[in-house]
Amino acid sequence: MADVLVLGSNRGIGLELVRQLAARGDSVTAVCRSSSERLEAISGVAVRSGVDVTDRAALEGLAADLGAEALDLLVVVAGVLERVTLDRLDVDAIRRQFEINALGPLLAVSALRRCVRGGGKIGLVTSRMGSIADNDSGGSYGYRMSKAALNMAGRSLAHDLADREIAVVLLHPGWVRTDMTGGSGLIDVDESAAGLIARLDELSMETTGTFVHQSGEPLPW
Ligand SMILES: NC(=O)c1ccc[n+]([C@@H]2O[C@H](COP(=O)([O-])OP(=O)(O)OC[C@H]3O[C@@H](n4cnc5c(N)ncnc54)[C@H](OP(=O)(O)O)[C@@H]3O)[C@@H](O)[C@H]2O)c1
Repeated sequence: MADVLVLGSNRGIGLELVRQLAARGDSVTAVCRSSSERLEAISGVAVRSGVDVTDRAALEGLAADLGAEALDLLVVVAGVLERVTLDRLDVDAIRRQFEINALGPLLAVSALRRCVRGGGKIGLVTSRMGSIADNDSGGSYGYRMSKAALNMAGRSLAHDLADREIAVVLLHPGWVRTDMTGGSGLIDVDESAAGLIARLDELSMETTGTFVHQSGEPLPW
């Protein structure tokens, strides 16, 4: 049984991660801005609401409540997708996506890293849309830019946390039918979450700092 915290857990992929981790017997703290009926319905999970991933004070408060060395695994899932095109270059939307998708996970790891035990793991849910090498269709300015920035932050975190043997992985969940995609996609949350958990289980100091698809396929930066 592992002590796990999932940040961004009231719906979508995060909710399903909580469900599957709790079902296999892990001790799960589900952190979110506001809880949901579906989250409350999962038994044995500690729900902590009122935490926005961009809110440093809330993250520090969460860390203080958890205490040092409380977690084996931290997974940051929270993210947003807003449509931004060259013709409709909404800079506020770009900034929001940077704040939530790139800065948010960095703030979360900064605040919560002392809560992760030496030898523990951190998973950051990014997107292959943040891959520069894989960008063969353009557009999505704020989302792509913010996830590329998250990928860079994750790679730096892998270096900076190596002295405590904390392994960090950048995870692409697949194209998943959730609110974010308006229900379109190739897979459902159960398949995505199962793949993400498998990737987190196999994560080690040998593979820290890598960018992988939930299927296990390594992704190019
Ligand atoms: N679905 C896909 O195909 C796909 C593909 C690639 C990557 N991803 C990534 O996977 C992650 C989960 O996506 P999803 O498809 O499950 O999306 P979703 O159904 O829209 O869920 C997004 C989650 O992020 C939370 N969140 C958003 N802004 C937040 C903030 N400021 N602070 C804390 N939590 C916040 C939401 O909570 P609220 O209810 O409070 O808004 C919700 O729990 C995201 O990082 C996304 O970029 C998804």
